[in-house]
Amino acid sequence: PLTAKVNSQDHLEIGGCDVTELVKKFGSPLYIMDEHSIRVACRQYREGFANHYSGDSLVIYASKALNCLGICALVGSEGLGIDVASGGELYTALQAGISPEKIYFHGNNKSPQELREGIDCGCTIVADNWLELKTLAAIAQGTSTKVMLRVTPGIECHTHEYIRTGHLDSKFGFDPNQVEEVFNFLQQTPNLDFVGLHAHIGSQIFERQPHQDLASVLVDWLKQAMNLGLPVRELNVGGGLGIRYTEADDPPSIEEWTQAVAKAVEEACENANIDLPKLICEPGRSLVGTTGITAYTVGSEKTVPETRTYIAVDGGMSDNARPITYESVYRSLLANQMSASANKTVTVAGKHCESGDVLIKEALLPPTTAGDILVVMSTGAYGYSMASNYNRLLRPAMILVHEGNADVIIDRETYQDLIAQDRLPTRLKANK
Ligand code: LLP
Repeated sequence: PLTAKVNSQDHLEIGGCDVTELVKKFGSPLYIMDEHSIRVACRQYREGFANHYSGDSLVIYASKALNCLGICALVGSEGLGIDVASGGELYTALQAGISPEKIYFHGNNKSPQELREGIDCGCTIVADNWLELKTLAAIAQGTSTKVMLRVTPGIECHTHEYIRTGHLDSKFGFDPNQVEEVFNFLQQTPNLDFVGLHAHIGSQIFERQPHQDLASVLVDWLKQAMNLGLPVRELNVGGGLGIRYTEADDPPSIEEWTQAVAKAVEEACENANIDLPKLICEPGRSLVGTTGITAYTVGSEKTVPETRTYIAVDGGMSDNARPITYESVYRSLLANQMSASANKTVTVAGKHCESGDVLIKEALLPPTTAGDILVVMSTGAYGYSMASNYNRLLRPAMILVHEGNADVIIDRETYQDLIAQDRLPTRLKANK
């Protein structure tokens, strides 16, 4: 999916830009996103639904994977909507020019302020629980606010425990035994326009079956709501399609996944004898994950005799929290000597004051020297979006590359940015 090649200087090139040159120009570490491959993934989702589903459909980008103006605008230009999970993500999507008609507001504990922001812009709010639904009904007096219900479908899938969400003891969504009562409540609450049902079962999923099962569970509830005369017309199956981080990962293609989901929904609707709802899915990782890389500069090296060699880079857990959080595995390469033979297994460590700050435990690389450009592949999703300033490291810049052009879409932070929100109490200022 990445528009990558090796150029005549034996350097990695992405989107027509030499990665080594990008680092020279924009600094290190550097997030690099490939516009073309994001567009391709957006189109594969849209066309997958268009080709295999006879009803209306909409693909919305789960922007938690990577939310910033440039990426929101880019996926918006491909006709996608946006899933936001906080007031901050909503604000960014709106500022990027995304129509509220195509924005869906998620979250299991939206504040009254956030609910108000959602109501004011006119996006669809995905109600997660009773407190939220009742607060929403009260704040939305005199409006016609579009609401979806998030339900916990009770579907298990094989992925990391932290990113599983469909099982019954998940913190997200209404429990199946609350659904009927919620339907009754919505029937009596005319200022809430109940548009449909949503569920999300987890992330980095390689099987198709869980989403097919989900389709039939959701259609059953949809029918139940229709029988009560509720105006439901949308069905959102969430996101979750996995990507290939290493050779061992073997996810279905976007085409295969969309086809499986579309067919399952059609079949379930046929069995339930109901009209096809507008089918929505909300992928995050599979739109931006493999389309982004992080380039680092190699620094110090330490060999622990008979144990391992550490290669330290100029970033780490602050720009990619996934290895330390989920023990996620990544692939790396040397962008400035692509044909050198990878014959050494080393540990790629970050520069944070923490032993666990390791990006790759076992990386197969050519021999490295300080100054080499080490690229960690497939960092586009949940890299920048989970980044921190731990140890007051500056968050890297992000570059969008396309046909030889490189645009900064996120500036590198500065020391001034780090203290911009800091305030010195007056009595301490005196001591300065
Ligand atoms: N919809 C909802 C309601 C979600 O909660 C999520 C992800 C998605 C869609 C998008 O899922 P995706 O297509 O990206 O799998 N930080 C973790 C992933 C957490 C996912 C949270 N929700 C990681 O780095 O693996």
